[in-house]
Amino acid sequence: MNYKLAQSNYRHLVVGADSKIPLKNGQYISAINFDNAASTPPFVSVMEEINNFSTMYSSIHRGTGYKSKVSSQLFEEARSVVLKFVNADPHNDTVIFVKNTTEAINKLSYRLWDGNKKSVILSTWMEHHSNDLPWRNKFQVDYVQTDSYGKLSLESLEHKLKKHRGNVKLVTVSGASNVTGYVNQIHKIAELAHRYQAKILVDGAQLVPHNGINMKPRNSLQHIDYLAFSGHKMYAPFGIGVLIGPQETFSKGISEFVGGGTAETVTHDWVVWEKPPHNEEAGSPNVMGVVALVAAIKTLTALGMRNIDQYETQLTNYANLKLKSIPGITLYSHTAQGEPRIGVIPFNIKGLAHEQVATILSDEAGIAVRTGCFCTQPYIQQLLSITPKQMEFFKNNADAPRPGVVRLSFGLYNDFSEINALIYILEKIVKHP
Ligand SMILES: Cc1ncc(COP(=O)(O)O)c(C=O)c1O
Repeated sequence: MNYKLAQSNYRHLVVGADSKIPLKNGQYISAINFDNAASTPPFVSVMEEINNFSTMYSSIHRGTGYKSKVSSQLFEEARSVVLKFVNADPHNDTVIFVKNTTEAINKLSYRLWDGNKKSVILSTWMEHHSNDLPWRNKFQVDYVQTDSYGKLSLESLEHKLKKHRGNVKLVTVSGASNVTGYVNQIHKIAELAHRYQAKILVDGAQLVPHNGINMKPRNSLQHIDYLAFSGHKMYAPFGIGVLIGPQETFSKGISEFVGGGTAETVTHDWVVWEKPPHNEEAGSPNVMGVVALVAAIKTLTALGMRNIDQYETQLTNYANLKLKSIPGITLYSHTAQGEPRIGVIPFNIKGLAHEQVATILSDEAGIAVRTGCFCTQPYIQQLLSITPKQMEFFKNNADAPRPGVVRLSFGLYNDFSEINALIYILEKIVKHP
């Protein structure tokens, strides 16, 4: 593979890819953003759509004016665009627009909450806090183990499905890790979950923007029951997220938030609730967010998720290869040739705190990364072999420097030349720490 030839064809599609920013010495330089797992910049198409649509923007659902009708139609039609993008079932599944993945998972946790103390949620050791904490106060939560590389163990999953047989309400798993970039075998996991009469939620925050996802038909054992993801991680940063799941989950009971838009008829004595998804979207909906999301989905679809995945994998392999050649760098994710992963690389430099490395990268080279635990503390504790006893110290020492790692995360617009710039400065740091 001649990496030099493979420059990003997608760079012009993103706003601000070549913005100039100041270094610590006052010199201006093109910003390099390797923090796409947190949030990506917007697509140009997203900004254009936002601008174009703003001339027609109006309150939706209950407005009678022309613009209201146009806005309402666009908002409702967006649900089909989303369903198609992830191959959800248009007859059974509903798309609920929320703020982000965190809100989507919280919402589902309330909907599945049955007050039964025996009900179990199987989360995993590699989950973002957003796919762990919402379950804790409502269910028994057990965590599927990861192996010494931090990869999810399907043996552990099956063991726990057997152990809690009949009580597992949901297996909830990230499609791809925001720490190691590992892509989980979600369809195998779905198959296992369904064999034990459990359902599956995929936290698609990292998987959907980089690899895409196929929820598969309902009659397949590999079907994904629920899916959550965020617009701001897929080039549409306008406060929009998605929860997809069967309508029947949201038909009974009452949403965790109620108010305007969620009820058909209200007296002081009784309420007839709207049907899904409207009973789940309390308050004035985020129309601009939906406009942005649809524009991003259209652009991603036109580019092809396979092409995006292939390009980002090349970037990741190249960066890994280069990082491995630098003495003193420890990498925390390991994939074999051809093993699926997303462009997330965690590392540390011997003798330097993770925050120090990030500061130098930003101050000296204009490179943005993220450091710390990325809201995935138990997983990082495991990867860094930090014991529960050692963690006790941080309970009473909130200001003590925390363990963590440096994370690179790529987007489709990143270039090989940007990785070369990173490697250049890392080599300098290692030589002159
Ligand atoms: C795997 C994963 N799940 C959930 C989240 C939460 O996403 P949001 O902040 O958009 O709710 C993130 C954010 O980084 C994530 O990486």
